[in-house]
Amino acid sequence: MVNKVLTAALLLEGPALLVSGFPHIAEMVAKQKHEKRIEALAEFPEYPGAPNHATYDKFDAAAQLVSTSGDHEWRAPGPGDIRGPCAGLNAAANHGYLQRDGVVDSESINSGLWEAFGLDHTATIFLQTATMFFDGDPVSGRWSIGPHSEDTQSLGLVGDLLGNETGICAYGHLKTEGDASITRGDWLAPEMNSNCRSYPEFAQELEDLAVARTGGNITPRVLAEHSNNRKKHSIATNPNYFSPPYAGVAFTFGAHMFAYELLANHSAEYPRGVLTPAVFESFFAYERDENNQLVYTYGHERIPDNWYKRADDDAWTLADILISTSQQCVSYPLNCQVGGNTGEVNSFSGVDLGDISGGLVNSVEDLSDSNRLGCFLSQAIQADAPSFLSNVFNGVLLSTVTGMIGDTLLPVLQTLGDCPNLPAGKSVMQYGAKYPGAKVQNSGPRDGL
Ligand code: HEM
Ligand SMILES: *[C@@H]1O[C@H](CO)[C@@H](O)[C@H](O)[C@H]1NC(C)=O
Ligand SMILES: *[C@@H]1O[C@H](CO)[C@@H](O)[C@H](O)[C@H]1NC(C)=O
Repeated sequence: MVNKVLTAALLLEGPALLVSGFPHIAEMVAKQKHEKRIEALAEFPEYPGAPNHATYDKFDAAAQLVSTSGDHEWRAPGPGDIRGPCAGLNAAANHGYLQRDGVVDSESINSGLWEAFGLDHTATIFLQTATMFFDGDPVSGRWSIGPHSEDTQSLGLVGDLLGNETGICAYGHLKTEGDASITRGDWLAPEMNSNCRSYPEFAQELEDLAVARTGGNITPRVLAEHSNNRKKHSIATNPNYFSPPYAGVAFTFGAHMFAYELLANHSAEYPRGVLTPAVFESFFAYERDENNQLVYTYGHERIPDNWYKRADDDAWTLADILISTSQQCVSYPLNCQVGGNTGEVNSFSGVDLGDISGGLVNSVEDLSDSNRLGCFLSQAIQADAPSFLSNVFNGVLLSTVTGMIGDTLLPVLQTLGDCPNLPAGKSVMQYGAKYPGAKVQNSGPRDGL
């Protein structure tokens, strides 16, 4: 009671008075003002995903401690080893939870990401399948966790002529990797345009936002707001910014949630996890120099010692990815607009969702239903798969991999949701013409690093 009255009185006085003498009160006031301001916009949940995560209260130190020694000791990638835009995959490869050369397959993805991070099999099976189709070799299941690698395809020299898999960054752009990432650049931006490497400026922005909102720790709410800031930044600086349904609306945001849900440290005191700036920096390959500036070393992502992953019975599932992605559409509708700039900065134009989804989804609000979002993503992936594949493969290999869509891809897309009588969606190739950033290229002179 006293506290409330005091706060109200201080609010009336205005913040100027407070800052010098009572920094903690000033902070409190700033926080309350902030809370007032965003109340109206339906604040992003403190614990996104399915509701069970918000009340999880168990901790098992022995089961949750992740090994960083022996087979799992940290080793820097050697010459020829591939690393890319994904902090989690890079760290897992550096600790031998995935192949250390950075060319992975379904076995290592499904077992390694469970062992290291507690990412549920519903999620890894889906991600593995979509990624091997779009960015890798569907025949062997192999894909590169960075730019193109000659080791991805299984057919030796012949394969090279029949298919040139992109990997998940560089020319993998728009298939899985999208613009406005947590710290990576936009591939077609005029500057800071590697989509494989991390930019300290964006990492610092995230840490600054965390200081403003929580005093320093990075939470799902902070990440959701950062994601919205990054999209606004892309619209304001990248004439070629483009956000398709899977890579742009879902994947980029999914990665923002992974940063907390899979990288936070757990303890008896904090069974739902805490992500300190120090843990974030280790996982994102950052150190601080003598002037306290962030310094990034490509591919040096590290699982910190004494780090405890989320509990097995609190795993992060495919349903959680979809629910949290839907939750962003409520708090940050801009994040869920499909579309982009039309060749100039600040020229964002959204596509008609009803048109590209055959009437399944007619507004961003419709995407706040996670089942409908799942069906929308399924439509988009089915619509894009044939052209994505024909960009990469040709000859007999193209007919082999196209033939796998029905047997291998479709059953996994069904795990996105219950979608009876799903109408066909439109491919980016069909509706992307007015967006210079919507062109999918398979190869070229840039290495992406
Ligand atoms: C098969 C599984 C996975 C695939 C295919 C994958 C792929 C990717 C891709 C393509 C990006 C770039 C996204 C963008 O453009 O914004 C990315 C970013 C990211 N991923 Fe993953 N990822 C996987 C698993 C994981 C796991 C297990 C973690 C955490 C433990 C993780 C954490 C992240 C984070 C934090 C980013 C953002 C990096 C940044 O923007 O600086 N991912 N991932
Ligand atoms: C994780 O939390 C535990 C308990 O607070 C702590 O002992 C440990 O050092 C933390 N790990 C990291 C990497 O911060
Ligand atoms: C495959 O793509 C990479 C990256 O664009 C390029 O360097 C390489 O020459 C391409 N290989 C073939 C066989 O086209």
